[in-house]
Amino acid sequence: MSSIAIPALTKDLKRVLIDADTIARRVNELAIKINTDYAGINDKLIIVGVLKGSFIFLADLCRKLDISHEVDFISLSSYGNSDQSTGNVRMIMDTRENLDGKHVLIIEDILDSGYTLDYLCRNFTSRNVASLKTAVLLDKPDRRKVDVTLDYIGFEIPDVWVVGYGLDYAERYRTLPYIAEMIPVIK
Ligand code: XMP
Ligand code: MG
Repeated sequence: MSSIAIPALTKDLKRVLIDADTIARRVNELAIKINTDYAGINDKLIIVGVLKGSFIFLADLCRKLDISHEVDFISLSSYGNSDQSTGNVRMIMDTRENLDGKHVLIIEDILDSGYTLDYLCRNFTSRNVASLKTAVLLDKPDRRKVDVTLDYIGFEIPDVWVVGYGLDYAERYRTLPYIAEMIPVIK
């Protein structure tokens, strides 16, 4: 079998913040915890991924779960073309599944100001879900504007823009196997 070449950093990327092996180990640890925490529920767990950034994290995490679960997606918009959250979150696409009375686990790529996840938690709670938990791959605690309860956190990171493993800058770098810090864009 030929070995897979790891894409090199481009001129926009400063350094690898979290390498692929470290991500895989942490995703595995989170899956073990989720398997244990939901072992007792009788109904299927609905895993709701927030598009687009969570898609790789969600795919890797779900394939490590041995509890019964369904996958669904939601699409929200808060940033527009800026890299600063406005707090003005809108739903672009809702889940296919009716969440009423269901156990729901939200999967998000990164928690920054907290506006997006706060909006989603309020929205889902108003649908009378049976239970609601949140899992984020990355947490930037220094940027928090609203308090959000996180049940599963992959890594805490500093206040830098990161890409890779699902995260993008203007739709670029999503499929890098690692998480890299971007060189700040001068505006
Ligand atoms: P809030 O501020 O609502 O934002 O917690 C969460 C959303 O902001 C995006 N985000 C990032 N995306 N690299 C990215 O690719 C980053 O460093 C970053 N910081 C925030 C992301 O879409 C997340 O869902
Ligand atoms: Mg996102």
